[in-house]
Amino acid sequence: MVLRKPGLKVAASLLAISMAFGSVGFANETTNNGKSGYSQDQKVIARVDAERAIEHVRYLSEEIGPRPGGLQAEKESAEYIANVLKGYGYKVEYQYFPVADQYIADVAFNDGTSWQMGAAPNGKISKDAVSGEVIFVDGGTTLDDFPADAEGKIVVMPRASTTASYRTQVNNAVEAGAEAVILQSLTGSRGNYGSTFNPSLATPVEVPVYGAAFIQGEWLKERLAKGSFEISLTAERFSNLESVNVIATKPPKGKNKEAKEVILGAHHDSVVGAPGGNDNASGVGLMLELARVYKGYNTDKELKFIAFGSEERGLLGARYYVDQLTQAQRDNIEAVFVPDMVATSYEPAKNLYAMTPNGSTNIVTDSTMEAGARLGNSDILPGTFGSSDHVPFHNAGIPAALFIWMGVDSWDPLVYHIEKVYHTPQDTIEDNISTERMQSALDIIGSGLFDVVRKNVPPLNK
Ligand code: BES
Ligand code: ZN
Repeated sequence: MVLRKPGLKVAASLLAISMAFGSVGFANETTNNGKSGYSQDQKVIARVDAERAIEHVRYLSEEIGPRPGGLQAEKESAEYIANVLKGYGYKVEYQYFPVADQYIADVAFNDGTSWQMGAAPNGKISKDAVSGEVIFVDGGTTLDDFPADAEGKIVVMPRASTTASYRTQVNNAVEAGAEAVILQSLTGSRGNYGSTFNPSLATPVEVPVYGAAFIQGEWLKERLAKGSFEISLTAERFSNLESVNVIATKPPKGKNKEAKEVILGAHHDSVVGAPGGNDNASGVGLMLELARVYKGYNTDKELKFIAFGSEERGLLGARYYVDQLTQAQRDNIEAVFVPDMVATSYEPAKNLYAMTPNGSTNIVTDSTMEAGARLGNSDILPGTFGSSDHVPFHNAGIPAALFIWMGVDSWDPLVYHIEKVYHTPQDTIEDNISTERMQSALDIIGSGLFDVVRKNVPPLNK
């Protein structure tokens, strides 16, 4: 799928690019500084290694696991990223910022395993465990749906679609004597399976009420099919939280004070209950692998590698980062590359899109499209999308783009395919990471970014 040298795919990529831009640079074209862009690309693509990037994905998604914004696991993720960057010789800083409370449940099994779910703020939130036998109730909007022996049980129900009707399910379960209630989320908002959630209750309820991901409900059903079992529930309200951005700096050659700045930034948090393999350990893995390779090269511009915290809670890390910059500092940023979901194995997500919130092109989309053309890699396409850390930069007038694998059936930006395991416990290396897609993203983003950052001259065709 990925060609590392110009070849068969050149024609297709040039066609795609000329449709988007009208004109393109050719492989081996000479840049303003007299060096071939293609030969500079080789410095990057000969060295970037998807397996190394995926080793970071493994650490973040398996060793640490879910990394909800503001919690301890997100701090561990920040520490891991900072240590890797320090190991490469970069100067690294942490930037802390406040975030809202989290209500998180822990569901523990007798074999020692446990799952994270969302807890209803208005349900019982306690570190004192509630234990019981699990029963599955299909329905629950009427009292008749509950078996006579529901008393003292932990009742799992597929979540009714509206808040009003799942509140009725909860009230009925409590009336039937449930010791705790787990609502199984069915669908996500992007064609994905349902994620964990914090059930919203109108009035306080005495028992724990949790929001499970769709797959967690299915897994509970599978276990029930093998016989009855007990689980143990605890929940905690985490308050006075701080989330964290990790910022590593590569100074410009000669420590030039006038130098422009370029940013490569990926969020390192995940949603509750999701290991965030593709979303977004993949973006962090790509960033760390490029940090390793660029370390050996001089660049005329300043390069910052940033791991943003709490993206999943409202792009909070990137917003905070942009908010604390002076106007002069904002004006000095030439380009922001945001890899977010750069290695899915989901087959229909066939292209790596360089997305801006309004579909405009900029130095980030142009440099990566041109890199794809030089390399004969036609995976990259331009597109229109918000929903990630490029948005606060774009809103502040700073050229930025999101990189994400997607399938788009038409030019209507609302018609797209992303993996069904997005934001779920199944966003794992095994179910959702492709080495080939990671390699293609490393080649394209690595070459485009290197072209922008290495020389203080406009990139190709500007
Ligand atoms: N990686 C996603 C963004 C994404 C998903 C872009 C699917 C395009 C298609 C990101 O981590 C995310 O989920 N963002 C949140 C942002 C929100 C909390 C402001 C989202 O879109 O729900
Ligand atoms: Zn993401």
